[in-house]
Amino acid sequence: MRFTPENFPPYQLLDPVATGERQADQKTRQLERLYHLTQKHSWDGRAVLGALIDRHGPPGAGLEPRTRDALRRVMTVLMWGELAAWNISADLALEIPDLEAKMAATAQVFDEARHFYVLRDYVSQLGTSERIGGLPNRLFTKVLSAPTLCQKLVGMQLLFETNAVVMFRRIGESELCPILHELLPYFERDESRHVGLGVMYAPKLIERMSRAEARATARFQLECTLLLMASGFVFREDFAALGLDQRQMAIRVSSMQDEVVKQMVEVSGRSVLRAVASPRAGVGPKILDFIHPADGIASAPAWHQRVHGAIIRAAHRLDRAYS
Ligand SMILES: [Fe+2]
Ligand SMILES: [Fe+2]
Repeated sequence: MRFTPENFPPYQLLDPVATGERQADQKTRQLERLYHLTQKHSWDGRAVLGALIDRHGPPGAGLEPRTRDALRRVMTVLMWGELAAWNISADLALEIPDLEAKMAATAQVFDEARHFYVLRDYVSQLGTSERIGGLPNRLFTKVLSAPTLCQKLVGMQLLFETNAVVMFRRIGESELCPILHELLPYFERDESRHVGLGVMYAPKLIERMSRAEARATARFQLECTLLLMASGFVFREDFAALGLDQRQMAIRVSSMQDEVVKQMVEVSGRSVLRAVASPRAGVGPKILDFIHPADGIASAPAWHQRVHGAIIRAAHRLDRAYS
């Protein structure tokens, strides 16, 4: 909510009856709790990263050049994703009119700023940071410039956060880098908390939507998901070099997103499905099996390998064309 001389101060925020009603609502209390939890679990990024570098040596020490390059490319995209998340959560904090959801978004701004500077410090020591491809760039700018609050929440809380949680977990678990092994659980904990704002606040916005607005939100989610999938094709070789199983990560992201949509339905009823979809609904599982066949693409039928190869080439062309 942008304040103007006409609507500032918003005295209704302090209205005792409205405050009492808000406090009686469980979702509202949980949103406010997200803010306090952020403060309680806040960590000092400089101290944590500094201590890890003192203990394990500089980032990427001892890695093969190919692995190091792949790690730098993946961490660079995650780093810029954190800057996008910082800006999007700042937009949410500015635009959300409801007090408790505004507090939750503000807490997220604080976390994302720390995530960005810690990854900047890590990546800058890993080697020269490079330009990111056109596909991730499109995805970030699409959510950064989303025209409505709800689309920003869907892009950020449902899509970015779930992908970030899974990638942080897998890279951390992989023990590629002892620093990331200990550092990324801090990120994962914060990102898991951020999903809560989407679960509790997006349904409130969807309730008030016209049919056309709900359709536009569903279309936005689909377009972002397609951009995410196309970006995944471009990073295939890097993930392979890092020993990260893309099928396993995609299954984990789908099940997290499915869980988020289920929680939204539990909290607010099935009407939320007008505007958001679970990746497990409809043809979602078939698409996942096509992109990441259970037995690997080398064991898939010849036609499947041909189409798959053509999609990878097209994704690389798009990635270059957009940059
Ligand atoms: Fe983050
Ligand atoms: Fe986040």
